[in-house]
Amino acid sequence: MIVKQAGFEKSVANLSQLPDDALPEIALAGRSNVGKSSLINRMLGRKSLAKTSSTPGKTRTLNYYKINNALYFVDCPGYGYAQVSASMKKMWGRLIETYLTGRKELRLVLLLVDIRHPPTADDIAMYEWLRHHGLPVCVVATKADKISRSKQASQLRLIAERLGMRGDAALIPFSAETGQGVTELWEMIESKLPGM
Ligand code: GTP
Ligand code: MG
Repeated sequence: MIVKQAGFEKSVANLSQLPDDALPEIALAGRSNVGKSSLINRMLGRKSLAKTSSTPGKTRTLNYYKINNALYFVDCPGYGYAQVSASMKKMWGRLIETYLTGRKELRLVLLLVDIRHPPTADDIAMYEWLRHHGLPVCVVATKADKISRSKQASQLRLIAERLGMRGDAALIPFSAETGQGVTELWEMIESKLPGM
């Protein structure tokens, strides 16, 4: 994919605000601070289109980014952020859950996990939930630049095993820092967008 045009489209705080132009959507899920916004910036070749932060839990809405007037990346609020109230968590949960299970434009969910650590209980629950709902998932192991290539290989095996991934399930190491995985991830996304 050659990104000719990319921009922030809108923040969605409730489902009535979802776009109605029927463009295909690629959602990004993962715990706070895993690198969702950084991945979007790197994939789109734009330094700070999606806000990144060292304070986890900044993203509280579904944030839509439009690419080439042809598709959206949808940055979902990070899960597993402790410092929000239970009622707040519930509200986010409902928004994401309803979006992910009911959105016919959704073509693929990118589930981001940190390559340096075994998946958390939240990561495992999220993967199982996505599979349970029959959603197409690609697991992206972020921050790959932080460990050596040989360590990457063993961590990928560990992640696949802990998530209970089938042998043919998609798992891509990625670095927003070096650009590792950008080509593979675009290929994965394009495979879900026939005719593009
Ligand atoms: P929330 O919006 O809070 O859910 O976080 P997020 O998942 O969008 O994470 P974000 O992209 O803001 O990144 C969190 C921190 O990790 C920032 O300090 C980033 O610079 C850093 N980071 C993200 N991706 C990478 C990466 O590939 N390599 C390195 N070295 N750092 C990264
Ligand atoms: Mg973010």
